[in-house]
Amino acid sequence: MTLVLGIETSCDETGIGLVADGHLVGQALASSMDEHAVFGGVVPEVAARAHLESLGPVLRAALDDARVDLGDVGAVAVTAGPGLASSLHVGVAAAKALGVSLSVPVHAVHHLAGHVAADTLVHGALPDPCVVLVVSGGHTSLLLVRDLALDEVVHLGDTLDDAAGEAFDKVARILGLGYPGGPAIARAAVDGDPARIALPRALADERGERRHSFSFSGLKTATARYVERVRADGRQPEVADLAASFQEAVVDVLTAKAVAACREHRVDTLVIVGGVAANRRLTALARERCDAAGISLRVPPPALCTDNGAMIAAVGDLLVRADVAPSGLDFAADPSAVLRHSLIR
Ligand code: KG4
Ligand code: ZN
Repeated sequence: MTLVLGIETSCDETGIGLVADGHLVGQALASSMDEHAVFGGVVPEVAARAHLESLGPVLRAALDDARVDLGDVGAVAVTAGPGLASSLHVGVAAAKALGVSLSVPVHAVHHLAGHVAADTLVHGALPDPCVVLVVSGGHTSLLLVRDLALDEVVHLGDTLDDAAGEAFDKVARILGLGYPGGPAIARAAVDGDPARIALPRALADERGERRHSFSFSGLKTATARYVERVRADGRQPEVADLAASFQEAVVDVLTAKAVAACREHRVDTLVIVGGVAANRRLTALARERCDAAGISLRVPPPALCTDNGAMIAAVGDLLVRADVAPSGLDFAADPSAVLRHSLIR
């Protein structure tokens, strides 16, 4: 059995996880989120410096959490992309240094494969095939996944503009709710009426080629225009109702398209992953619609939805167990890597 150490530094979370044979053995996480909040979004230079400062202590904390030593590590997996270039470089350099000093193989993995693999740590191996809805700050994709370690991932549809999480973050900014926007909107929406303000559901009725695609920039603009109109009338926007109506518009489209993709491809398992999967209204509506359609729904717990090191170790563990040849040391960070295989070759 190989103990795989996973490193995640693609955005503002420094994560280290340890996984063996499908089981999470230990993990630790540091976040520079608070340092970015004053700027309303992630500042790459600040994030990269924070990774440099946090990586050592987070590595120590993860090893302590797992009650293992560095010498027990049998393979290293690292997010090689996509993400912020300067942040990715920190993790990639650390992974190579560990690989050389411990004489263990290094696997350069795709960040989104990590989000998918996170679910295996709590719900076991993924059924082949399954439909995966990835909803994060940078991505929104409907994927047809077979063997995550071996097979090419099929993109059924992606967002044509903003990612779902990005839309949450931008609308939160418009409403003055702060960063990160997803949790802030979810909190504000609790007391709001989701049917109070009519907002568009882009591509919801699309039947052609773009039936599995998403678009959120029109929804963001519609929300901004509504706020402008209300303010021009000398009034203040109803933040709770707007937050609830916006959240409902996003989760309505996400869940309808995910269930439709399962039906069309005759797949009976839907997996929802990524930071936005931490949204309770999203999972509640997905549960309702999956139940009605006879589809079983899998969503990792919130702490495994947002970025972490365990999910990257989980991909490394799948690759090791599938006997996939490691990357070697001459790979580079790829900030705009498209997900085709878990291992970025
Ligand atoms: O997966 P993630 O941690 O980082 C990326 O890979 O992008 O996702 C972060 C995104 C942010 O846009 C954040 O606002 C959103 O996930 N998010 C949420 C919630 N928690 C985090 N969006 C909606 N509801 C939430 N509860
Ligand atoms: Zn992510």
